[in-house]
Amino acid sequence: MFKVLRKTQIADNLYRLDIEAPAIAAKVKPGQFIMLLVDDHGERIPITVCGWDRVLGTISIVVSKVGTSTTKLTALGEGSEIAHITGPLGKVSEISNYGNVLVAGMGYGAMAIQPLAKELKAAGCKIYSAVSGGTKSEIVPIDALKEISESSSVMTMDGTSGETGWITDAVEKIISENNIDRIIMVGSLCAMEAVSGIAKKADIEYRVSLNPIMVDGTGMCGACRCNVDGKTKFACVDGPEFDGRKVDWEQIMMRRCPYPARQAGSVDIYHCRACGQW
Ligand SMILES: Cc1cc2nc3c(=O)[nH]c(=O)nc-3n(C[C@H](O)[C@H](O)[C@H](O)COP(=O)(O)OP(=O)(O)OC[C@H]3O[C@@H](n4cnc5c(N)ncnc54)[C@H](O)[C@@H]3O)c2cc1C
Ligand code: FES
Repeated sequence: MFKVLRKTQIADNLYRLDIEAPAIAAKVKPGQFIMLLVDDHGERIPITVCGWDRVLGTISIVVSKVGTSTTKLTALGEGSEIAHITGPLGKVSEISNYGNVLVAGMGYGAMAIQPLAKELKAAGCKIYSAVSGGTKSEIVPIDALKEISESSSVMTMDGTSGETGWITDAVEKIISENNIDRIIMVGSLCAMEAVSGIAKKADIEYRVSLNPIMVDGTGMCGACRCNVDGKTKFACVDGPEFDGRKVDWEQIMMRRCPYPARQAGSVDIYHCRACGQW
């Protein structure tokens, strides 16, 4: 069992959970994820590790409530326990001195890029950052990111925080004003696809963290299959970080949304309205 030590709502529909998990905290590196099972009746779901404290033996995750498992997870109170966590899984993000690096994040991705940015900075990179959300209340805390960034952009669709626009607007502006050598992005599939077009046109290295459906997270079930540079890859063991200019975006989007109506209805099916139990 893994105890939830602290739960904080950090933005609209984004909850940070600090969890006691010393074995994972001792090994985890940027870009890696865990597979967790909220309780013994649930499904295994992949969640990125957004922070860790090796001394306290804790890991931090940031969760967006979208369906049954994430609803159960974000409903846990401090002191509750998560039934199973496996990890750290996935390849560690590449860290080296790449020169000027633009890190871009949306939703939980805006937290996931922060430990990565910190390590890239320590490796000698100059960091430029951009985060986005629909409105001000969807923007996660970015003070730590700002501190290590040469420039830091916030974009909201309604202009209530930072500038008005989408993450792509920030990416285009930053690469037009600076000599960017590499872009790293953790965001929605459609935004990562859009930035891949920008990176190809500007001939800039581009790394993305893919989030296809994962089931076992260890390379055995084949659920996370995706196509990168004409080759079949399993995101859980070959990724989740890939060259975003070579991902077959059309295929990955088709595979990610096969049952939208059933997924939307899953909370109603599994949550008993009479007793509130799952
Ligand atoms: C490597 C990786 C890292 C991720 N990191 C985070 C994170 O840090 N924070 C966060 O909030 N979310 C993260 N996700 C997405 C998260 O796993 C899904 O939102 C979650 O599995 C949804 O489960 P559900 O039961 O709440 O919703 P469901 O009703 O089952 O599904 C809702 C949506 O989630 C997708 N989904 C469902 N099951 C999975 C699965 N096993 N793998 C991937 N997608 C799935 C569906 O396509 C659908 O779009 C990550 C996904 C991957 C692959
Ligand atoms: S999740 Fe099963 S092979 Fe990747």
